[in-house]
Amino acid sequence: MVSSMIHCAKHPSGYAELVIDRPQARNALCVALTDAMAQTLERLREDSETRVVLLRSEGDHFAAGADIREMLDMSAETARATDFAGCCVALGDFPKPVIGLVQGYALGGGCELVEMCDIVLAAENAVFSHPEISLGTMPGAGGTQRLPRLIGTAKAMDMLLSGHRMDAIEAERCGLVSRIVPPDRLLEEGREYASGLAALSGTVLNSIKKAVRASMEMPLKEGLKLERALFHQTLGLPDRQEGMRAFTERRKPLFNAT
Ligand code: HXC
Repeated sequence: MVSSMIHCAKHPSGYAELVIDRPQARNALCVALTDAMAQTLERLREDSETRVVLLRSEGDHFAAGADIREMLDMSAETARATDFAGCCVALGDFPKPVIGLVQGYALGGGCELVEMCDIVLAAENAVFSHPEISLGTMPGAGGTQRLPRLIGTAKAMDMLLSGHRMDAIEAERCGLVSRIVPPDRLLEEGREYASGLAALSGTVLNSIKKAVRASMEMPLKEGLKLERALFHQTLGLPDRQEGMRAFTERRKPLFNAT
């Protein structure tokens, strides 16, 4: 544990549960919290027992964005000198699958964290918004770049320019959310999902994530090349041999044995 605002528990099935725990401030992302998250992710990145990360928050809301009190008197020079919001890069660049569980508000920087997740399970009461404009500022942790790639420019402009709040249904319809679940099932569904992924080949999960992420950055031809190279790589993996052998032997595969 690196901060009381971030907890991390490793599950024996191969996933780590990363918990934002500042519910009294609606899980506002103060610098101490995002620093602790970055440090924890750094550790999980190297941890061979962790194949998947489940990101969730304590309380009724996912996260109300960057800490407005901390930003109140921050000058542009200080923001530049400290690379304010740069710490969120740790989640955006994380190489293993991240499942985000969202209940209540995911606002501003909180919505940006959601945009960095690979799978998003949203409770029926989830609300997504970028209200930065109403504070006289704008997203600084990827909102203007990831959101349009995820949901298209028309929907992203609507959210970013007007602060429009999206409910879970709209968010699922436009591709920000993978699945909607009842609020009282969110944690259970998330843990089941994480356990299921963690039982698959960690190496191949990371390759799929890498290829899909590349589709947001690369021209199609380059992305197809990368995909082919990663696919060919899987043919040399013990996990691939195990997966196909298990199929022919009519048994469940046992991945990640090496
Ligand atoms: C600091 C926050 C906060 C925030 C809530 N709180 N959001 N503190 N930064 N972003 C604190 C309140 O000050 C209050 O503290 C306590 O949490 C409860 O908040 P309430 O407003 O009383 O709760 P509620 O009525 O339930 O409303 C919840 C809310 C609202 C809708 C989430 O708090 C809200 O609109 N918050 C701001 C959301 C926002 O604008 N986010 C964008 C931030 S800019 P006290 O001490 O009074 O109990 C941003 C830029 C990102 O994210 C840039 C890159 C990272």
